[in-house]
Amino acid sequence: MIVRYATPDDLGTLLDFRREASQWLSAQGIDQWRKPYPPDLMLASIKQGNVFLFDVDGQAVATVTLDDEDLEPGAWTDVELAEPALYVHKLTVRRERAGRQLGSLILDWADDRAARTGARWLRLDAWTTNTKLHAYYLEQGFQHVRTVTEGSAVNGGPRVSGWLAQRPCRPHTSLGLEDLTRSAQR
Ligand SMILES: CC(C)(COP(=O)(O)OP(=O)(O)OC[C@H]1O[C@@H](n2cnc3c(N)ncnc32)[C@H](O)[C@@H]1OP(=O)(O)O)[C@@H](O)C(=O)NCCC(=O)NCCS
Repeated sequence: MIVRYATPDDLGTLLDFRREASQWLSAQGIDQWRKPYPPDLMLASIKQGNVFLFDVDGQAVATVTLDDEDLEPGAWTDVELAEPALYVHKLTVRRERAGRQLGSLILDWADDRAARTGARWLRLDAWTTNTKLHAYYLEQGFQHVRTVTEGSAVNGGPRVSGWLAQRPCRPHTSLGLEDLTRSAQR
């Protein structure tokens, strides 16, 4: 498996990932990710170099977005935001590849990347009402920090991703991934 930066040519693939995950969630009666993700925001993230794709045999099988600041102001406190951290978003594994701990591998890769840039924490905000997803992240070594229910500063509506969690970053050796981002110009 290789990890690389997503390019604007990958926009369609990334939106497909999102659609597939949303359908899978909906089939389980989970209301997460019902709204289609705005393509312009996805494209902006790609252009910022924050979107990563994981390929097997030339086919994209998973993605994650890593930001060095929180996209939704008001969730983390100013004190927390002052601590060096990477923020995980849109972690998604294609369903045909699910169940093989790929998510875990990607989180370790993100951990390693974060640790190498001097970050202290790997953080995320998960869908507020999705307790099964919370259980997944707790199993991955994240600690729940708090749940923020105040309205989203971005769209003014209720905050749908307010379950905040973090785990300390540490380097991981021998992940068994070819990391093309280390040599790519950004
Ligand atoms: C999270 C994810 C990347 C992990 O991929 P993976 O390593 O292949 O692991 P799995 O898909 O087998 O998920 C592990 C367990 O968590 C559960 N899970 C994962 N995401 C979930 C979600 N959003 N809602 C409810 N349960 C979820 C799976 O059903 C599975 O449960 P099981 O062990 O009872 O079968 C993948 O499940 C995924 O793409 N989920 C949908 C998108 C998502 O919610 N991403 C997180 C955004 S914060």
